[in-house]
Amino acid sequence: MTYTIALLPGDGIGPEITAVAEAAMARIAQHFKFDLEFESLAFGGASIDRYGEPLTQLTLKACQGADAVFLGAVGGPQWDNAPKRPEAGLLALRAALGVYANLRPVSVHEKLSHKSPLRAELVSGVDIMIVRELTGGLYFGKREVGEDYASDTCTYTRKEVERVARVAFDLARQRRGKLTSVDKANVLDSSRLWRKVVSEMGARDYPDVALDHMYIDAAAMHLLRRPSDFDVVVTENMFGDILSDEASMLAGSIGLLGSSSLGDHKPGLFEPIHGSAPDIAGQDLANPLGAVESAAQLLGLGLGEHDGAHVLRRAVDRMHACEDWTKDLGGSLSCSEAGRIMLEHIDAAFRAFEIEGYRRGFSPEVAEA
Ligand code: IPM
Ligand code: MG
Repeated sequence: MTYTIALLPGDGIGPEITAVAEAAMARIAQHFKFDLEFESLAFGGASIDRYGEPLTQLTLKACQGADAVFLGAVGGPQWDNAPKRPEAGLLALRAALGVYANLRPVSVHEKLSHKSPLRAELVSGVDIMIVRELTGGLYFGKREVGEDYASDTCTYTRKEVERVARVAFDLARQRRGKLTSVDKANVLDSSRLWRKVVSEMGARDYPDVALDHMYIDAAAMHLLRRPSDFDVVVTENMFGDILSDEASMLAGSIGLLGSSSLGDHKPGLFEPIHGSAPDIAGQDLANPLGAVESAAQLLGLGLGEHDGAHVLRRAVDRMHACEDWTKDLGGSLSCSEAGRIMLEHIDAAFRAFEIEGYRRGFSPEVAEA
């Protein structure tokens, strides 16, 4: 089996972390005997500098024709006043791929519970899946700019709410059966529609899922006060952008988290939730594990290579268990060193996976390697 992966390294630390993710995926492919063809494409600020556009037709076509798209990061201060911003390319790509559901899982490795700015006993055991609506709302509403005014509008249709809520309800069913829908229905009409549609679906199609509603301001507070009460969270584009950055602090570093953006068709778009970190770009300091987690999601959700995804996650666990950490986590590894060690952990995790497989043949009780 051969899969094509469109790689968009982008800006800032994007190329550094993408290189690690690419090598990790290639190693998994070797072990599981499938082929990955990577095609690296200009995107974001890097593409503006070369072609005057953050997303060229060539890059878009290549993404649309790929089995999955991997993105590093976009943006940087050098394009702040440019006529076109790198971020516009990302929004255009999300819209063109139709990836309306952005999955941002946040879990806390036990070795890392004391790395969070919150107390360890608050964050230990946290396991949240944020489902952010990604192709509507404030990011895509009608806009106007005048000399002395500017406006952005938040518009949602029933269909847009339904399709993302369905993804969230289905995930809740596979997880702990709980869904929190976050809105601002005490103020916004778009939120009142959101709440009505989600409530109707809950009552009609998902009576087995425990659904509750929370205002965005209260959700921001409860996420810090009692984070382990959350299972799946579904919310509007902008609210999800903000809540997911907040939630990343539970895990210890924003550099750890990955995301999947999915629509009704292939390809999905997989990217770490962090930005381009211009302050540390080019210094080999970035934490590549958010990119590696995104790569695991790409292998599993994007390609259906679930065993490969599993082994890659076990390799990340091994990095934490051995405290093979970059500076953001208090370690001393550079991004590229972490990448090299990652490959050794992948090999070890793959061997453990094979042994587990043999043992499963003899006994139902297989200790986690
Ligand atoms: C994210 C980022 C993007 C967003 C930016 C870079 C446009 O913050 O993926 O969370 O706001 O969606
Ligand atoms: Mg963001």
